[in-house]
Amino acid sequence: MAQATAGTLDPMLASAGLLSVHTADVGLNREAQRLRRLRTVAVALGIPASYLWYRALTGRPFDVFALPEIDWVVMAPVMFFIALIGIAVGTQVLSGRSPHTLFRPEQIDVRLSDVVGIDPVKDEVVRSLNLFLAHETFAREMGGRPRRGILFEGGPGTGKTHTAKAMAAEAGVPFLFASASSFQSSFYGATARKIRSYFKELRRAAAREGGAIGFIDEFDAIGGTRNGMEMTAAPAGISGCGGLTGLGMEFHPAGARTVQSAFGTSDLAGPVVNELLVQMQSFDTPTGLERLRGSLTDKINLLLPAHRQLQKPPVRSANIMLIASTNRADGLDPALMRPGRFDRRLTFEEPGKTGRRELLDHFLARKSHTPELDDPEQRDAIAAVTQGYTPAMIEGLLDEALVNAVRRGATAMSRADVETARLTTEVGMGQPTAYTPHERRLIATHEAGHTVAAWLCAPERRLEVLTIIKRRSALGLLAHGDREDVYTRSRTEMINMIRIAFGGQCAEEIWYGDVTTGPSGDLSYATNVAAQMVGACGMEGTLVSYSAIQNGALNDSNLVGRVLGDSEGRERVERLLAEQKAYTKRLLEENTHLVEALRDALLDRSELIGHEITDVLETAQAMRNGTVIDLTEDTSVSAE
Ligand SMILES: Nc1ncnc2c1ncn2[C@@H]1O[C@H](COP(=O)(O)OP(=O)(O)OP(=O)(O)O)[C@@H](O)[C@H]1O
Ligand SMILES: [Mg+2]
Repeated sequence: MAQATAGTLDPMLASAGLLSVHTADVGLNREAQRLRRLRTVAVALGIPASYLWYRALTGRPFDVFALPEIDWVVMAPVMFFIALIGIAVGTQVLSGRSPHTLFRPEQIDVRLSDVVGIDPVKDEVVRSLNLFLAHETFAREMGGRPRRGILFEGGPGTGKTHTAKAMAAEAGVPFLFASASSFQSSFYGATARKIRSYFKELRRAAAREGGAIGFIDEFDAIGGTRNGMEMTAAPAGISGCGGLTGLGMEFHPAGARTVQSAFGTSDLAGPVVNELLVQMQSFDTPTGLERLRGSLTDKINLLLPAHRQLQKPPVRSANIMLIASTNRADGLDPALMRPGRFDRRLTFEEPGKTGRRELLDHFLARKSHTPELDDPEQRDAIAAVTQGYTPAMIEGLLDEALVNAVRRGATAMSRADVETARLTTEVGMGQPTAYTPHERRLIATHEAGHTVAAWLCAPERRLEVLTIIKRRSALGLLAHGDREDVYTRSRTEMINMIRIAFGGQCAEEIWYGDVTTGPSGDLSYATNVAAQMVGACGMEGTLVSYSAIQNGALNDSNLVGRVLGDSEGRERVERLLAEQKAYTKRLLEENTHLVEALRDALLDRSELIGHEITDVLETAQAMRNGTVIDLTEDTSVSAE
């Protein structure tokens, strides 16, 4: 093995961009294979053709068409039994056939340039592809082992399948696509046989074309943990900064996560995973021809003296990259993840704001849109409001906007179509509902209360949509979001979330002197935030983390349950909520003009989007001639 010293690295391996298939090992191998195949065909056809020519030229041609006489009385039953045996054997053979679909590079219309917005993953993909393309150079120059298995892990629609297709197209090798569930069979042992034949096909394709990429989608269907192999992969001794789990607009208490045994921890997973483990190691085993040559050499060597022994032909390892994609890598069998198998794990996440902007540019280039959407500011604004969207969701959003445009009778989508589509995607379709005048006014007041609380307490939040049109179970709603992608929340921000939630109930109390069932969802949200602050974030006078309590057979409760189940925790939550409600009520009482202005605008227009909301608020504020009492300065102080 050559020692690679600084400065002597092969330029192929040092390349920063994607290597050219034609000059890389894969392309050179494929060309060599093609020439060898041509020679074989020439020999296979040439010899019989020369013989036939010889016979023809010497005046003794074959009479190819003189078939022997067939006695159908004898042949019919023979053929019947052959057909029966054929059906019996065929069923068995077919049940163990590889379920893949083979795509040739030219059949795939996705290239790496079509994978946008996920640069960190793309960089790693290019590195892996280069190692795949230059695998022989890598092994020869540096003694490295080729990368065999890559695990694509990530939520639905984050681009795993899309990226794998682009990889196959760029690598210029056959792409054997199989969905993990298609390996499953009701015949005993057929699943393992299908896996064997899939790997056989992979090796065959790789031998034929200098390399092959296998892709198994939804891998967890067959790669689940075997019995007794449950193992936590969480690295010990790592302290991390907790993110925003569950603190977005929709509250998912972080403590609600219950540990469930992973998919298929049953005996059935055993043979299938074992077969996968064996097959993952099979890329270095000799092919049928190599085995035949090897055994012939062995037999001849038995007859030869020691110093005349023949060398066995070297075993060439198949250049295969196997990509498995899953939404949940934590449930895969640990043995599948060890080095040499799926040792490379690529996590696909929702793109950041820059990524979303790139995706918008990419998709809008193909979808008809009004000139308004060519404005970079408009695109930036859409990228900003789509935090948490996956690439597939962004594509879906624009498709939905196109549908809205068609519904309007237009042929191009506008910004308003995108906004309506976003509302439909995030909240649901608007359902025209005939509220009584009293209810309509009540709902408008409630939503205006939320909005004024948000505008006064949390100017950092962007007011997106205010509506009293019923969508799914929401009679009305205020959608507000962060201006930038954020990954943490401060105490002030969390307090503000509680105040915004209380805005609706306080408005009902001030204007109607009574409360309705409307705010029940708001109270649940506020309780969740308060429980997080008290029991998980150490923000409310106690540093004890209730989420550190282990779930047990008798206390299987989420974080909210744990905090409220403890009398001291409950008291802290109650106090926090009562304080914030009192604060919000005072704030609204001192700014009734804002709530009333918004309520009237809502009653008039039913739905306000983006700047329409702030326009109403700013006009009402200006009309008050600056007499408004601004309480935003002391928000954190009064919360104490
Ligand atoms: N990075 C990207 N750039 C451009 N388009 C993308 C990207 N990621 C995804 N898409 C689009 O989203 C669609 C869905 O993505 P894909 O099928 O790859 O998702 P996935 O991660 O495999 O999801 P699942 O886990 O549900 O199988 C693709 O067909 C493609 O049009
Ligand atoms: Mg997929």
